[in-house]
Amino acid sequence: MCYPRAMSAKEEIDKLTSELKVYQDKYYKEGVSLVSDSEYDRLSDRLAALEKEHPDLMHPDSPTLRVGSDLTNDFPEVRHTIPVLSLDKAYSDAAVLDFFSKSIEKEGGVLSFAAEEKIDGISMVLYYEDGLLVRAVTRGNGEIGNDVTANIMTIRSVPLRLSESVDIAVRGEVFIRKEDFERLNASEPDESKRAANPRNLAAGAVRRQKSSEARLVPMDIFCYEGFWQDKGRTPSDHIAILSELKRLGFQINPHLSFFAQSKADAEKRLEEAGLDGDGYAFSEIDSYIRKKTAERGTLPYEIDGLVFKINELDVRDRFGYTEHHPRWAIAYKFESPQAEAKLLGITVQVGRTGRITPVAEITPTKLGGSTIRRATLHNQEYINELELAIGDTVSISKRGDVIPAVEAVIDKNEDGNTTYRLPPLCPCCGTTIVQVGGLQYCPNYSCPDQVRGRISYFASSDQMDIATLGPKTVAVLYDAGLLRSIEDIYTADFSSACGLPGIGEKSIQALEEGIRESLGRPFALVLSSLGVAEIGKKGAQMLISGGFDTIDKLIEASKEGRTEAFTSIAGIGETIAESIIKAFRSPELLSTIEALRAAGLHLDASLDKEEESSEQIFSGQVWCITGSFRTFNPRSKALKEIEKRGGRTVSSVTGKTTHLLSGEGGGSKRAEAERLGVRIVDEDEFLSMIGQKAAEGKGDGQLLLF
Ligand code: IVH
Repeated sequence: MCYPRAMSAKEEIDKLTSELKVYQDKYYKEGVSLVSDSEYDRLSDRLAALEKEHPDLMHPDSPTLRVGSDLTNDFPEVRHTIPVLSLDKAYSDAAVLDFFSKSIEKEGGVLSFAAEEKIDGISMVLYYEDGLLVRAVTRGNGEIGNDVTANIMTIRSVPLRLSESVDIAVRGEVFIRKEDFERLNASEPDESKRAANPRNLAAGAVRRQKSSEARLVPMDIFCYEGFWQDKGRTPSDHIAILSELKRLGFQINPHLSFFAQSKADAEKRLEEAGLDGDGYAFSEIDSYIRKKTAERGTLPYEIDGLVFKINELDVRDRFGYTEHHPRWAIAYKFESPQAEAKLLGITVQVGRTGRITPVAEITPTKLGGSTIRRATLHNQEYINELELAIGDTVSISKRGDVIPAVEAVIDKNEDGNTTYRLPPLCPCCGTTIVQVGGLQYCPNYSCPDQVRGRISYFASSDQMDIATLGPKTVAVLYDAGLLRSIEDIYTADFSSACGLPGIGEKSIQALEEGIRESLGRPFALVLSSLGVAEIGKKGAQMLISGGFDTIDKLIEASKEGRTEAFTSIAGIGETIAESIIKAFRSPELLSTIEALRAAGLHLDASLDKEEESSEQIFSGQVWCITGSFRTFNPRSKALKEIEKRGGRTVSSVTGKTTHLLSGEGGGSKRAEAERLGVRIVDEDEFLSMIGQKAAEGKGDGQLLLF
């Protein structure tokens, strides 16, 4: 552009500000673009650059505030200057009617009531000074909330400057339309990162670290209460407040209803206030609730109830408040598949990867046919989003019908408890908890909870499927010092575990058998059982078909930091590649791998094939093993050879045992085999049996029986 003289920074900022505001207004209010997108971006970038250089010249309602910034939000705590209360609840038509009649009786005169949709979103208080938005604060504990202004400024329907220069606090609900929620969630490829519902998505967006990211979530707001600093400016009733809020520039929910003595009277009052809405007579409450309940699913946003409020402000003043609720309003809650419970406490779990998970301990609550006592709280961020404190009443749902989750705070506690904070130290080992990308971790690889978790995961039925080695047995064996790592599974002598709580001779036998059987599991399963966070079953398959068909290839590529060797596999991105590399460089994992190699586990996919193709010469036979061997060290290697060929292996000689493979120093088992007439095979014979497998075939195996 060419100007007769160079503009001062102030002039340019002023000019760009007003130009961009016109473009924004035209676009968002009328859907008309006065300039191309690229021209708009150019002007906006120029304004942002100038504002950065001259922050003192920036307009408090600058259009660049809508764009957000990359600065990290820290959400400081601020004290509310208005009481931020929640509503008492009603669960039936009768309870609402009761509220109406008791209020009228108490007042002893004519009253009217506004009825609004109870938006299922995030409660927000917008503070304006001289008509300018100065602060947007979450509800918090009702007295102190978090300042989330930068993120809220990105919401188009939040006015940055009002049509009049007033000091006012406005309550509203931030929400996301169902359609936007579906679209945004569908575009998130990682299913575990998808929000469960629009409210959760909004809760996350309100607290995004960068407002430039919050802007990308299409949040909206409906405002429903106004508190003027100058009481003299306060309108005389609720519908006049809504009308005034609308005039000032706030978005009001158009689905407003109004109850008066007669329908005609109600409609007249709405019209006088200049508001759209439906008028009803008191006698129509039942049909109104039925109508709204039926309409609920068709609305473009989620509502979880209806709010009935006395319209006359002087009556509101007379009725006043209980400690937590206004006496002049009530929330009718729709029935929902969720249950309500009280949060008794929060326990902190340490997972196998060190991930710290807060768990809600709740009053026992029936939901979906079972009684729930605990529900996940995911992480600190989730607790912050809910502004959850001990003693709060919460709603619980079963997500995907499996893991119960705390969905929302329904009522704040009356004990003055504020938002719960995770302890700074790992509750298991006392190590300082670290923060990694919004999650909390105990960084101590030897943390007992992590060790037990890793072993249990390795042995679980979904992974290596080691019979009887469930979390309880793992804990007992851990405490006894027998099982302190995954590799201990294959080297420990479990015979000394006999007599430990819940462990008898039979369970030791079953355990030893389970361990032996696990030796033949395919490489993919071994890989996914190691507990590397990024390598689940699918990940292991992807790596193997992507060329990493031996553990050595994984170790090698990680050692050399060849990220591209991983990222060239479809579905593996940079972040995952880097964590895999980090894992396969860690001395702890490497030493586990070496121990598993020595035990004879499959660390090479070609071994799986070999196994599959081995002739089943020992099929139908039951082998026991005793003593030590030259060739098979550790002994588990011999067991593998037997199982590979279809034989079953057991840990003691019984009447069912068909063969005893006997090495150096086999004592009591050998004697027992002799007594029972079990065929005794020494190392050389065994070697020749497996060496001649092709020539002798299956039949010979059977022959040896007799
Ligand atoms: S009036 C003092 N109106 O529901 C008046 N609340 O427990 C307080 N809500 O925290 C609220 N839609 O976050 C009111 N039309 C509406 C509402 C509404 C949703 C939320 C709000 C409040 C909670 C009530």
